[in-house]
Amino acid sequence: MLTEESIVEILKDFNDPFLHKSLVETNGILEVKIKPEKSHVSVKIAIAKTGTSEQLQLQTKIVDALKERGASSVGIRFSELPEAELAKHRDSLHEEAEMGLLSPASKTAFIAIASGKGGVGKSTVSVNVATALARLGKKVGLVDADIYGFSVPDMMGISKRPIVRGEKIIPVERFGVKVISMGFFVEDNAPVIWRGPILGKMLNSFFNEVEWGELDYLLLDLPPGTGDIALDVHTMLPSCKEIIVTTPHPTAAFVAARAGAMAIKTEHEVIGVVENMAFFESEITGEKEYVFGKGGGDKLAEELRTEVLGRLPLQQPDWNEADFAPSIYAEDHRLGKIYTEIANKIIHKIDN
Ligand SMILES: Nc1ncnc2c1ncn2[C@@H]1O[C@H](COP(=O)(O)OP(=O)(O)O)[C@@H](O)[C@H]1O
Ligand SMILES: [Mg+2]
Repeated sequence: MLTEESIVEILKDFNDPFLHKSLVETNGILEVKIKPEKSHVSVKIAIAKTGTSEQLQLQTKIVDALKERGASSVGIRFSELPEAELAKHRDSLHEEAEMGLLSPASKTAFIAIASGKGGVGKSTVSVNVATALARLGKKVGLVDADIYGFSVPDMMGISKRPIVRGEKIIPVERFGVKVISMGFFVEDNAPVIWRGPILGKMLNSFFNEVEWGELDYLLLDLPPGTGDIALDVHTMLPSCKEIIVTTPHPTAAFVAARAGAMAIKTEHEVIGVVENMAFFESEITGEKEYVFGKGGGDKLAEELRTEVLGRLPLQQPDWNEADFAPSIYAEDHRLGKIYTEIANKIIHKIDN
């Protein structure tokens, strides 16, 4: 038989997900009510941050526990702890802040998309791999690290700007992908003329001042080549994996190999090569034409001792006026399916 006292006893065993202290210690149990005739339990609980996946997890666990002890139904309302209570637990909150994306405890896999030169489809591959991973149920973030040549917002059809909450920037979500780009902070497509030190800081801000939440994968659309930013990423993210994009032309693969060599020098594992613009297939005759040559992807993969994750033919996405995103292939598009295959291979590689 449930009583209000016994419910408090049960709730004692649960911790505030951010403060890592019992709900009793944080004065987080605000109200417990019970309708004896129907054994309906309703509780009000305060935690450090509401509207989070941590809240959802806690909610599920509490509901399960109360039902196990005989509640027929459970209603939970969450609110945020008052500032005065939070102040008492500041130290615990700081520990939480240090558990950011870049901390050793972070479970996020970083994947940089690199290429030897521009125009090979690196950004196209980045936005579509990110979207495909999200379609497969993964929590995905995408950093447009091409600070001068940012293009991700336009390619994904993002017209919103991120909002700032407290001291954090909330990334813009599109197709289930959380996106941050220099493009969000530039007026009217003005050129970016900042130099080295500020750029390094910018990249740092993208990791530390953006509220990413929990992520399975954080993809980075790197600038082409082996410049400063690429090098910064390599030093900032020691555990970063890499995907190299190339066209099938042997000389393109030769240039791409330099980006691969840089990854290897900085001890980043190259998890695969994507060959883009691999061929053109006539819709009329079904004939394949290798307009940009052949064999570049295989050659590069061999050189970097990795595999070709996928080959994408030349074809534009279907444009959809209602939900405009000029570079995103729909899930059932011929290229959309290839991106799903690539995403599945990536998941398999990272998880093993
Ligand atoms: N498979 C493809 N078929 C047709 N056009 C493509 C394909 N991949 C990329 N493109 C186009 O090629 C251009 C360059 O691609 P982009 O992703 O911006 O390259 P990068 O980021 O390497 O500079 C863009 O206009 C893009 O829409
Ligand atoms: Mg690009």
